[in-house]
Amino acid sequence: MKGELLLLSGVIVLLRLVGGCPEMCRCHSSSHSVDCRRQGLAEVPLDLPPQTLTLHLQDNQIRQLPAFAFRAVPQLRTLNLWNNSLSHLAPGVFHGLQHLQVLNLTQNSLHSLESRLFHSLPQLRELDLSSNNISHLPTSLGRPWENLTVFAVQQNQLQQLDRALLESMPSVRLLFLKDNLWKCNCHLLSLKLWLETFIYKGGVTDGVICASPDTWKGEDLLKIPHELYQPCPFPSLDVGSSRGQQLGSAHRPAPGPPESHSARERDPSECELKPKPRPANLRHTVATIITTGVVCGIVCLMMLTAAVYGCTYAAVTAQHHGGRPARTNEPGKMEGKELCDSSPA
Ligand SMILES: *[C@@H]1O[C@H](CO)[C@@H](O)[C@H](O)[C@H]1NC(C)=O
Ligand SMILES: *[C@@H]1O[C@H](CO)[C@@H](O)[C@H](O)[C@H]1NC(C)=O
Ligand SMILES: *[C@@H]1O[C@H](CO)[C@@H](O)[C@H](O)[C@H]1NC(C)=O
Ligand SMILES: *[C@@H]1O[C@H](CO)[C@@H](O)[C@H](O)[C@H]1NC(C)=O
Repeated sequence: MKGELLLLSGVIVLLRLVGGCPEMCRCHSSSHSVDCRRQGLAEVPLDLPPQTLTLHLQDNQIRQLPAFAFRAVPQLRTLNLWNNSLSHLAPGVFHGLQHLQVLNLTQNSLHSLESRLFHSLPQLRELDLSSNNISHLPTSLGRPWENLTVFAVQQNQLQQLDRALLESMPSVRLLFLKDNLWKCNCHLLSLKLWLETFIYKGGVTDGVICASPDTWKGEDLLKIPHELYQPCPFPSLDVGSSRGQQLGSAHRPAPGPPESHSARERDPSECELKPKPRPANLRHTVATIITTGVVCGIVCLMMLTAAVYGCTYAAVTAQHHGGRPARTNEPGKMEGKELCDSSPA
């Protein structure tokens, strides 16, 4: 009896090592894909074949994933986790998935994401985070996600999206941003500018429809004219590019909508920016004029002193030496005489 049990468990272990298939899943050895959809799973099956390239875990009830959840399938290229109940992803969840290219997390309950989360996915090409409850995305990923071409975050609760995050996806060509709570205030200007360049370079997006403020509710961020869309006063000048700055100054004379709240935010900058340079310039000019005047005065005085001294010296010399021609500096003497004759003093 014991021997038979041992043999049986031995066979099971052997089967697993050879690459058996988890009970609830169907394994297709030719395509190296494992299909575990709609099995009411609460966690990732344990005995996945290590050669698996595609793993379907959609339509289950997975709520949590431990760190290294997919360590058994290091070759994975495509991971489908859509329509599960994930509300949080621990930073180490995807560790070891060096080759993952497609990660589909649509229709879960995610609220936020950490930048570290995706550091372990260098080869990722498509990331689908749509239909979650995400209200916050990392401002940056720290290092570029070179191969990411599809980034989907439509149907979430996003109000803002940092330009730095998009800049860390240099290859992105498809961006899904619709159906969020986009807050089209001055902070979204950098996204507007980035998207314009993105579309100009051939990128495709489904658009950013403003949810607030009331001025722009329902409007497409990209269709709001620049002269009506004001840049942030100070913080964005620090963070933002020189482009934003140029745009801001270029469009400053244009009349902004008085009801827009970004116009209100703009006022302090004008109060702080404008008065400063002018007094500085005025002061500078006045200082220059005074300096010039003083220097001119001193030079004139010196010239006058020199002329008077020269005349006196010439007169004294003439008196002492009578009609005898002076050995030194005859032209100078002549000049001095002429000067004395011509000057009224
Ligand atoms: C999501 O998965 C559940 C089973 O967990 C299923 O009953 C439901 O139909 C799925 N939803 C969609 C939209 O496929
Ligand atoms: C993710 O899965 C959903 C549902 O099947 C699908 O509509 C979407 O296109 C997938 N996303 C990607 C990037 O493949
Ligand atoms: C998403 O958030 C909204 C409101 O914040 C809430 O009503 C909804 O139940 C949440 N959905 C999920 C799937 O957590
Ligand atoms: C991007 O894809 C290319 C081609 O598949 C690959 O050689 C390269 O290593 C990938 N980049 C990164 C950062 O993994």
